[in-house]
Amino acid sequence: MNPIISPSLLSADFLHLKQSIELINDSTADWLHIDVMDGVFVPNLSFGFPIIEAIAPVCKKPLDVHLMVVEPIKFLPQLKNLGVAVMNVHYEASPHLHRSLTAIRSAGMKSGVTLNPHTPVELLCDILEECDLVLLMSVNPGFGGQKFIPQSLDKVRRLRRMIDERGLSTIIEVDGGVNQETGRRLVEAGADALVAGSYVFGHAHPKEAIAGLKALCRP
Ligand code: DX5
Ligand code: ZN
Repeated sequence: MNPIISPSLLSADFLHLKQSIELINDSTADWLHIDVMDGVFVPNLSFGFPIIEAIAPVCKKPLDVHLMVVEPIKFLPQLKNLGVAVMNVHYEASPHLHRSLTAIRSAGMKSGVTLNPHTPVELLCDILEECDLVLLMSVNPGFGGQKFIPQSLDKVRRLRRMIDERGLSTIIEVDGGVNQETGRRLVEAGADALVAGSYVFGHAHPKEAIAGLKALCRP
């Protein structure tokens, strides 16, 4: 089985966003990963709705939105209206996670919960059935281009076991420091989806980088 590939727009050339979207449209990428940061939940700002509104009608790939903000659930109506496919809220920013995930599903989006590197996957024990997707951060969120945290591989294995034991189809997505080598190790460990920002957009041939990740295969 080949992984879902979700290139992260954060590392694209913001002066030429249209070309970046066309590149993604024309590639074997499955989704487009959109990182929204508020400078409070994470120590950085990225972009917000004006940019996502501009992208949504042009991008042919489903949008995979990663909200690194406090109170992420309050943005549900805007994301629903934009036709977003996956809405990821951070576990650490969601005091009423069950309510949030249920609301995301009811709005017709995939319910995604994101875990910071220090948050154990075992905390999802009582909520896993409500998660269409779990996004494991393999760097501390807030910046592109950081080094992959190797402990993430064990988190993927443990989460894979939890999902398989229950016969669920929850998608395991991993975000941060993904390149061809870390991507290979993640897919072997049981990841279903890979986010890659600097590796794709920093590559001399981004479409080849995407195709290389897409060709990875779980044994
Ligand atoms: C980091 C973001 C990532 C980022 C990944 O907070 O959530 O999606 O774009 O960038 P790379 O792939 O460069 O680590
Ligand atoms: Zn992200």
